[in-house]
Parts: sequence; structure tokens; C-alpha cells
Amino acid sequence: MTKTALVTGAASGLGYELATLLAKDSFKLILVDIDAESLANVKAELEMKFSVEVVTLVKDLGIKNIAEAILHDIKNEPIDVLINNAGFGLFGSFVDTDWERESEMLHVHILTTTHLTKLVLEGMVKRGSGKILNISSLAAFQPGPLMAIYYASKGYMLSFSEAISNELNGTGVTVTALCPGPTETGFQKTVSADANTNKITFNMASAKSVAAYGYKSMKKGKIVAIPGILNKFLATIHRFVSRAMAAKIVRNIQEKNRNK
Ligand SMILES: NC(=O)c1ccc[n+]([C@@H]2O[C@H](COP(=O)([O-])OP(=O)(O)OC[C@H]3O[C@@H](n4cnc5c(N)ncnc54)[C@H](OP(=O)(O)O)[C@@H]3O)[C@@H](O)[C@H]2O)c1
Repeated sequence: MTKTALVTGAASGLGYELATLLAKDSFKLILVDIDAESLANVKAELEMKFSVEVVTLVKDLGIKNIAEAILHDIKNEPIDVLINNAGFGLFGSFVDTDWERESEMLHVHILTTTHLTKLVLEGMVKRGSGKILNISSLAAFQPGPLMAIYYASKGYMLSFSEAISNELNGTGVTVTALCPGPTETGFQKTVSADANTNKITFNMASAKSVAAYGYKSMKKGKIVAIPGILNKFLATIHRFVSRAMAAKIVRNIQEKNRNK
């Protein structure tokens, strides 16, 4: 029987790569994104290449009760794989940053991710199978001055994933938090102080390799997946220095990389 996967933020970057891997595995896809044009292109490409059914939903995941609206649109179709991937960054001192954008980020990363998970989880547990992949970040492991809300929201996604993964032991449902380091996607441009001046080139991974690692980890039911040896090490830095020192290190990196 054909299995169904729902991927948010599937119009580009990691979401697109994850949708491609699911299509290769013959999943029916429900792809959600705010970018209608790119989403339509992804649908056409995946349907042509892999002969799979692709349903697209153009939605802003940053608005209230959007998870319910999505489930309503797909008539509560059972979901076998849920990938909460949509997200974005915002650079700047918290005192100066735009609240509207931050509020949207908190909705996308926290409320919509949590609500979508809740809404699909009941069916997964009843059926005794299901996979959830939440795209957190290396940012989840320490405070992030100059990207305070982003780091804190990714910390939530990691903690939430780890906690429910434990609760779901023995149900046949697994939850994986993928925590990528810098990855070559549209994301890097949007978090730069100026879209054309992002200087991060060090330790940059391709979206394809990060998605492949995340997908494999999700299939295995790994709880926390950190792609790359250097990133695995960086995720432990808070164990060797105080959190205040970790915050200083992150601030230094952010200032250098974002042309503050
Ligand atoms: N790239 C990195 O270095 C990196 C590192 C660690 C974690 N991550 C995480 O990886 C995930 C995927 O990001 P990416 O790197 O693949 O970036 P991306 O190429 O910008 O993809 C994110 C997708 O999500 C969509 N999206 C953003 N806000 C949305 C909203 N309110 N409603 C619906 N869709 C929305 C974007 O649409 P628009 O383009 O139209 O905004 C875009 O298609 C994010 O959660 C990000 O935090 C990225």
C-alpha cells in the first residue's frame, strides 16, 4: 500500500531534498510551503521523475491554527511520515529585530511544528507505526546572541523531539531531531545582515548530503542526528566551557560571518 509523507517547507533547500528522497521511495507526497511558484515546480519535477502523486498546499505556517487547516484540507488523511522542516533565521540584536518576523518564526518553528505533530501522532500510535523528523539545528545546543530567537526556538525543537521520542518508546512511532550545521540553501542568504555579504564558507555542507543523512537517521529511528564530525564536536562545546562562554563564542562567529 502506498504510504503518505507530509513535508513542510518543501519548495527549496532541505525540504526539497527530503521530498525527493521520499519520492524515490515511492511515497505519496503532501508538500506545504509559502512559495507557490517553487512548490508547483517541485510537484511537476517529482511527478515526472518518480511517477508519484504529489499534493501541494500553499500555506503560511506562521499563522494561528494553520496545522488544523492543513489536516482539514487533506481530510485527515493518515500520515506515515511527517517532516517539520519549514523555518528561517533572523539576524540582529533582539532590541532591534522585527517582532512581526520573530512572532512568525516562533509560530513556524514551535507552534505549528508542535500542533502538526500532535495532530498526526494519534493516528500513528493507533496504527503502531510512523516516523517524524523535526529539523532543528546545531544552534539548539547553546545560546545564540544576534540570532537569539532562532537559537532558542531550535533548542525547543530538540528538547521537544527528545522528550516525545522517549514517551513513544514501544509504540512503533519514532521521532528524530536533525541538527544540521551551516548548509548551502536559501536560508544562509536570509540570515545575513545583507543578503549579498554572507561570509560563511567554512564547514558548509550541501543540502543533498544533509538531507540524505537526516533521512537515513529518521528511517533508523535515531533520536538526535548531527551530520558531520566537526558538527558533532561543536554540539558538545557547552560541556567544556560555561554557557556564558559558549554564548561569547557564538556571538564572535555571528559578528564575523554576518558583517555586523
Ligand atoms: N541552511 C542552514 O544552514 C540550516 C542549518 C540548520 C538548520 N536549518 C533548518 O533547516 C530548515 C530548512 O531550511 P533550509 O536551509 O532548507 O532553507 P530554505 O531553502 O530557505 O527552505 C525553507 C523553506 O521553508 C519555507 N518557509 C519559510 N517560512 C515559511 C512559512 N511561514 N510558511 C511556509 N513555508 C515557509 C521557505 O519559503 P520561502 O523561501 O518563500 O521563505 C522555504 O521554501 C529550517 O528549519 C532551518 O532552520 C538550516
